[in-house]
Amino acid sequence: MIKAPNIILVGPMGAGKTTIGRLISQSMGKEFYDLDKVIEDNAGADIPWIFEREGEEGFRRRETQALSAIVQSDTGDCVFATGGGIVMREENRDILRDNALVVYLYASVAQQLYRTSKSNHRPLLQTGDPKAILKKLFEVRDPLYREVATLIIETDARHPRSVANRVLDAI
Ligand code: S3P
Repeated sequence: MIKAPNIILVGPMGAGKTTIGRLISQSMGKEFYDLDKVIEDNAGADIPWIFEREGEEGFRRRETQALSAIVQSDTGDCVFATGGGIVMREENRDILRDNALVVYLYASVAQQLYRTSKSNHRPLLQTGDPKAILKKLFEVRDPLYREVATLIIETDARHPRSVANRVLDAI
């Protein structure tokens, strides 16, 4: 039997990848995994701890390991949410392009700011003015998300259920 591809959600912090990934997986009867959670489980520590002890580089190494493990496992047919920086390594972009149906959940910087302001567990936003940081990251990352995406879905003016339905209609 031909294995169905994994569906992997990418996009900036605050795009709603975890919420929407869960909704999609429930509607499709597939397993859902949050890559950040997989990294935390593998490390036995949370993301702020990993950034503090190992720096961003250590976190990125763990992120690539977790992504490689997913695509090498022969389960397939699952839905994954990823962290906003998954596209930073060329190696990860190659893995995404070659092995999954990649959905880019687009959110404007204003929406990213609004949605991320409710929590303080993202180390990259603790280092300065969150708006300026999100803007700078977005300038670098938006073209990279587009480069790996099979599908681009706009999330700004939509409820998560409606975003999930758009993804489900399109795949
Ligand atoms: C990061 C985004 C986070 C998490 C880590 C780094 C980033 O995930 O992976 O804090 O580089 O944008 P979310 O996009 O789920 O917030």
